Amino acid sequence: MISEKGFILENGVELPFLGFGTYKVAEETIILDALEAGYRHLDTARMYQNEKMIGNAIKNCGIQRRELFLTSKVWKGDLGYDNTLRSFEASIKDLGVQYLDMFLVHWPQSAPDADWKPVLTETWKAMERLYDEGAVAAIGVSNHLPHHLMHILKDCNTRPMVNQLEFHPGYAQSATTNFCLNQGIQVEAWSPLGRTRVLEDPLLLELAQKYGKTPAQICLRFCLQNNVLPLPKSSSMERMKQNLDIFDFDLSMEDVYRLTTMPETGWSGQHPEHF
Ligand code: A2P
Repeated sequence: MISEKGFILENGVELPFLGFGTYKVAEETIILDALEAGYRHLDTARMYQNEKMIGNAIKNCGIQRRELFLTSKVWKGDLGYDNTLRSFEASIKDLGVQYLDMFLVHWPQSAPDADWKPVLTETWKAMERLYDEGAVAAIGVSNHLPHHLMHILKDCNTRPMVNQLEFHPGYAQSATTNFCLNQGIQVEAWSPLGRTRVLEDPLLLELAQKYGKTPAQICLRFCLQNNVLPLPKSSSMERMKQNLDIFDFDLSMEDVYRLTTMPETGWSGQHPEHF
């Protein structure tokens, strides 16, 4: 669901239309710049090893905690009930906060041959406990395909509210995205710019010219018009601002379909079942 300010999750929690991705971001000044540019939603993960740095930025930015939307994730090497709870504690300690707005299961399985179902069940029970205790306002997953989600949905008490996926023109993962939309699970996009790999594609260049926008802005608008919340990264204030400036134009449905169905481009090579 969508409000004027952003997306609304199944449990009523609202989050801004865009978030700031922090994978490989190591400098506090980049986080402070993103907050100054207007981002209020920061996406990190235990695996990024930057939670302490982000915690310092949160402490130093002068913005009230309740104005921020903070997400972290439990890494695939830390799945299971106790490990998930421990990972959460470590995340909030490093971030220097009392609660998270959202906590996600980063990947559904730790190894290709792992018997992932029982471990994912236990992991999800820990996520539900954190949610029930009010330590986190929303819980969800990342990089989960429909069969992983079906396993969780089969006998959970609290449904995943979000699935964060690689999503950009040239890798729209339509089967998973449509499954999530039909289930009321909000999709978020990591690498919405295909880590720049799609920005030189002729279709992106054509549409950038047609709409008077940059290829990056076309990618981000493509996310929003698919009801997907983009999490772009940038180290430059100018591009951070450019990436927020996507609310003054609409892609035609025809162009959205052209971007959704273009040949695979810019895929990271990452897949939850191939290591
Ligand atoms: P930079 O940090 O120099 O801005 P993704 O979010 O898909 O993972 O992509 C991140 C990459 O995209 C970074 O290399 C970032 O470089 C680049 N980037 C971010 N915003 C833009 C933009 N508006 N135009 C071109 N490149 C961008």
